[in-house]
Amino acid sequence: MAATNNTRRRKDSIKLVWDTKPGRPPKPRDIELQTAEVVIPNPHDDRDLGQRDAGITVPSLHRLVAPFPQMNRLIWGDNLLAMQGLLAEGYEGRINLIYIDPPFDSKADYSRRIIIKGKESTEETSVIERLAYKDTWVDGTDAYLDMLYPRLQLMKRLLAEDGSIYVHLDWHVGHYVKVIMDEIFGKENFINEIIWCYRTGGIPEKLGYAKKHDVLLFYSRKPKSAFFKLPKQKSYLDSKFFKPHQKKSKELGIEEDYIGMFRWVGCRDVWDDIKAFHPRSSERMRYATQKPEELLQRIVNASCPDNGIVADFFAGSGTTCAVAEKLGRGWIGCELGKLGIQAACARLVEMGAKPFVIQSIDNYQREMIYLTGGRIREMRHLILKLYGASPTDKASGLGVRKAPDGVEELVYVGYPDRPVTAKKVEQLAIRTQKLDGRRYKRLIILGWDYECNYHQALETRIGASKDKPKVQIESRDIPPDIYDYLKKSNDDIEALAGKIKFYKRPYLRLENPDIKDLGDGKVQIKIAIKHYILGDIPVGHASRRERESHNALMKLASDNFAALIDYWAVDWDYDGLTFKSQWQAFRNNGRKAKTIPISATETVQKKEKRTIAARVVDIFGNDATAFAFSGGSDT
Ligand SMILES: C[S@@+](CC[C@H](N)C(=O)[O-])C[C@H]1O[C@@H](n2cnc3c(N)ncnc32)[C@H](O)[C@@H]1O
Repeated sequence: MAATNNTRRRKDSIKLVWDTKPGRPPKPRDIELQTAEVVIPNPHDDRDLGQRDAGITVPSLHRLVAPFPQMNRLIWGDNLLAMQGLLAEGYEGRINLIYIDPPFDSKADYSRRIIIKGKESTEETSVIERLAYKDTWVDGTDAYLDMLYPRLQLMKRLLAEDGSIYVHLDWHVGHYVKVIMDEIFGKENFINEIIWCYRTGGIPEKLGYAKKHDVLLFYSRKPKSAFFKLPKQKSYLDSKFFKPHQKKSKELGIEEDYIGMFRWVGCRDVWDDIKAFHPRSSERMRYATQKPEELLQRIVNASCPDNGIVADFFAGSGTTCAVAEKLGRGWIGCELGKLGIQAACARLVEMGAKPFVIQSIDNYQREMIYLTGGRIREMRHLILKLYGASPTDKASGLGVRKAPDGVEELVYVGYPDRPVTAKKVEQLAIRTQKLDGRRYKRLIILGWDYECNYHQALETRIGASKDKPKVQIESRDIPPDIYDYLKKSNDDIEALAGKIKFYKRPYLRLENPDIKDLGDGKVQIKIAIKHYILGDIPVGHASRRERESHNALMKLASDNFAALIDYWAVDWDYDGLTFKSQWQAFRNNGRKAKTIPISATETVQKKEKRTIAARVVDIFGNDATAFAFSGGSDT
């Protein structure tokens, strides 16, 4: 039809518009990704330690970890910053396949189920649900699109010329996102809308049909040069038309399985042959919205060359990373939630993946404050108020609070871009004795992060201090969802004062190492966790049931702290910079939760002096690092 009136017609001018749509793509930023841990998966469960070549010895370890950028990586943090970090590292146009399974704007929150066993096999197991991620958008679908749009723009920049992207969604926003994908990647670069019918689930509707499929939008940077290997699918033959004598006829390429006779055909865009995994499946991580590995296997095999890199910027429990690892591809996973990172890490360790790194975004908290439109000073004030303290001045991050038990507390909020150090806390403890002409009896530290070996270093410092400050020190963590409060008005903050939980930082202490000289330049080291003390359990205690479960967990934490440890790892020769986890113990992810051992033994090269570092991550996502020294302390 001809254009009517004076309307000037541009080809393909259709775009999705919403009020808050960002006008420009995200600017390049000089964001650095820093390596928090080098993981050398080394499942020790059933292996004979004596037969192993002393795990990985120090020289070979250095060879392994030297080329960090080539190693597979799990990045903890917001993918907008992570992708900017990758671009700053020169990853523009280097990723062969991107698969994302972002939140679906489903207006629900998702959890991870964690099973905790008592000490004795007869004791009851408890199950707790931990929030994995939120998919609720206070400002509606606009806010969801505000989140996804700039991220897709960055993904396009990261994708190789012959690369492809698959965006996994469902009926909630699949249609909006398709229009955005057309805009960003080009309508002409759309390849398929894949329908994955997962068969299970689907709540019957009052009106309408049970919803039983997801949608995968598949685009290529340049379809002409895109890498693609068409997967095969079974196509079952109708037995009515098929004569028995033709059964299993090789010439006709017919085979038979428990369903019936089939032929292999090129895969179609309706995938009804991949089931959502069985609840008893060994790949189950109890991470809500986890996708089956078979789905990812098909995508990776089809769209990533053998030596290519696969990225998943909404990695969840690490399904894409695990599949890429199994199929010998390089991978990058990024995940905002600690629970997801924990699940992915344990999964990769359990499968004996090649060494990989866990990275975080340098100055992450500061970047997040800027990203949410806040300023550091404003944030520190807000935190003091949320804790129920009155800031003493504008800049120091200090406040005063009358605690519910009547004690006047001096409260300090750390800086978002540096860990709280034992030295800083010692100085503050000395100041509490004279500040404002009074003696504060309690010093509260609210920190985003603490230096490694914090508690031990603080004890050593206070013990050696000539002032010997007589003040009770409580170190607490700033909750990760603190940014949500930045947008609230002052009145809302006043109402929330004292209600937000700042949980006590767990206390970790190691036993002194037990070292046996084995001769021929080797020693056997045994290290054990002496204490892991959780001052608080982050589960609600509003109802009677919740209180009972809270108390049961608190009791368990004091009787058998190992039951609450999700993962712990040892670096037998910590260099003071990068934690290299060469030994790991973790609870089983799937159905069979087990309590981890609290000691580790390893044979290593003899050395005059060494720092052994242990990192513990508990089921609530807290992590703590402590050191043990052989041949003299460097604390
Ligand atoms: C649907 S789940 C992915 C599940 C995953 N495919 C699996 O098999 O386990 C979506 C994930 O995206 C994460 N996420 C949401 N926003 C994010 C962001 N801005 N940066 C990184 N991860 C994010 C959530 O924490 C959640 O784990």
